[in-house]
Amino acid sequence: MCGIVGYLGDREVVPLLIDSLRRLEYRGYDSAGVVVRSNGELKTIKAEGKLDRLAAKLEGCGLVGSYGLGHTRWATHGVPGERNAHPLSDGRGRLALIHNGIIENFLELKTRLRADGWEFASDTDTEVIANLVSSYLDGNLFEAVRKAVADLEGMYAFAVISGESDEAEIVAVRNGPPLVLGLGEGENFLASDPSALLAHTRDVVFLENGDIARLSPKKVAVWSQGETRVERPVVRLNWDPIQAEKGGFKHFMLKEIHDQPQAIQDTFAGRVDFESGSVGFDTLELSSTEIQAVRRIHLLACGTSWHAALVGKFLIEELAGIPVEVDYGSEYRYRRPLVAEGDLAVGISQSGETADTVSAMETARDRGARLLSICNVVGSQTTRMSDGVIYTHAGPEIGVASTKAFTSQLIALYLLALYLRQQVGREMKAELLDDLARLPAAVGEVLTRLDHYDELARRYAEAQDFLYLGRGINYPIALEGALKLKEISYIHAEGYPAGEMKHGPIALIDRHLPVVAIATGRRVFEKMRGNMQEVRARDGIVIALTDRDPEELTSVADEVLQVPRVSELLQPVVNVVPLQLFAYFTAVRRGTDVDQPRNLAKSVTVE
Ligand code: G6P
Repeated sequence: MCGIVGYLGDREVVPLLIDSLRRLEYRGYDSAGVVVRSNGELKTIKAEGKLDRLAAKLEGCGLVGSYGLGHTRWATHGVPGERNAHPLSDGRGRLALIHNGIIENFLELKTRLRADGWEFASDTDTEVIANLVSSYLDGNLFEAVRKAVADLEGMYAFAVISGESDEAEIVAVRNGPPLVLGLGEGENFLASDPSALLAHTRDVVFLENGDIARLSPKKVAVWSQGETRVERPVVRLNWDPIQAEKGGFKHFMLKEIHDQPQAIQDTFAGRVDFESGSVGFDTLELSSTEIQAVRRIHLLACGTSWHAALVGKFLIEELAGIPVEVDYGSEYRYRRPLVAEGDLAVGISQSGETADTVSAMETARDRGARLLSICNVVGSQTTRMSDGVIYTHAGPEIGVASTKAFTSQLIALYLLALYLRQQVGREMKAELLDDLARLPAAVGEVLTRLDHYDELARRYAEAQDFLYLGRGINYPIALEGALKLKEISYIHAEGYPAGEMKHGPIALIDRHLPVVAIATGRRVFEKMRGNMQEVRARDGIVIALTDRDPEELTSVADEVLQVPRVSELLQPVVNVVPLQLFAYFTAVRRGTDVDQPRNLAKSVTVE
């Protein structure tokens, strides 16, 4: 996820672009850059790292121009660094382009363009768009973009300016990631989200998927699918700037919960070939021989990422038949783990900076394991120390309580399990991938029922304790549901494998204790129903989560929450979303600091 901005008008362009980018830095901060058109030429300045580095570089370099673009990057293709920073030019220096998203067929296009003599100076998919547009450019930038878009596959938003245009113009495209136009008097703007525009205008136009817009200082015009001229409504925003950064949501956590269908899709996009039924990674860097030699896998993580690891054990053992051990980073580093030749240690971390996970990975490496990192932050420590990396493409996660990073980790682990399955020669069944394709919509469906979870929170927000039960692959989801609730609402909550309830927690059950029971799928449904009966028999309150007809559970549950059904191995991704929402609405009702709960930190870089 990156932030993009553009401006045409009479003001000083560079300070305006930098100011707008500051509002978007939450979208990524690996590198930043601006391009302006100055005396008929395109001038680009870029810097690695946060925006301040770019601002410092721009000071005193006297860059002035009549219009321009700015970008703050969250790396997906290619390491963070100036070479891969945006804006990127085409190989012939005719245009400059900024981009947010992923071009899935970028390799195919790159090969085609190379064969036609186009050169590439970066590792990005963005440069492919720049060369592609340039290859079609013949005096009309809009036409060139329209033709290029027909060749592109993926989810993307981009904006481009040309050194050859006669008048000031920006052409922008939206196909997935958000893009909004800001309207002014003799000036116009564009940005990834309205937070970047609010200081300058409140009249905005939200582009729809498939829209191509042409902006000049006096006019904006939009074509749907590049074909039909359309008038998108002008919306007057009353948001304050912070609200805008949250995309209009009250908290980052709620926004990030809503980002999940996109984050899930971004994590599997480009890695799955649905036609041939195969999975591949561009940054795994482990040869097939090395993968085939893997005898055992150690999954190392902390907090929510550790819960993802527990689900990962189910996935890898079932799909690939390779034994998996799961450890807390903080435990692994202080025991003497047995690591054998051919073992693979996988560090799972949103931030890639958690000290305990990093140390556990070092321990595994020192004992002879190969290292793999599943991580959300490009270039972070776990990725630098690893032999291979699988990035989750969740975009920056600001809320301390992890949500979209977790579901993206589950997708990355599912892909890893399928990849290993492929490598060990097990059959790749088509439905294993088809189920993945259905997930974003299933998660989206849960998000249409916010009022259910808010109402549930209203009823139970005063409870002192909660018990969360699950079995099999949903046992880690019970742990995650309990963790979410305690992290942000400060209510004591315990997650337990349902079969273990009789060995202790059953003593806690009385009429004051709500028990959240995850009863989806076929394998352990009847067992879960039995556990719910045991709770009811002791006057406990049962809140059931099911993918079945709610009628099947009304005799054993006080509340039944229905979720869409997907395959058993992917059901945890759907099941965790209602639990995130329940925790969120409970915390809001209790008036806690949802995004920055007391005593916690987003990234724990100390022991
Ligand atoms: C902190 C955060 C948790 C997170 C854990 C691991 O405790 O508050 O939300 O799950 O660190 O973080 P990581 O970045 O390694 O996934």
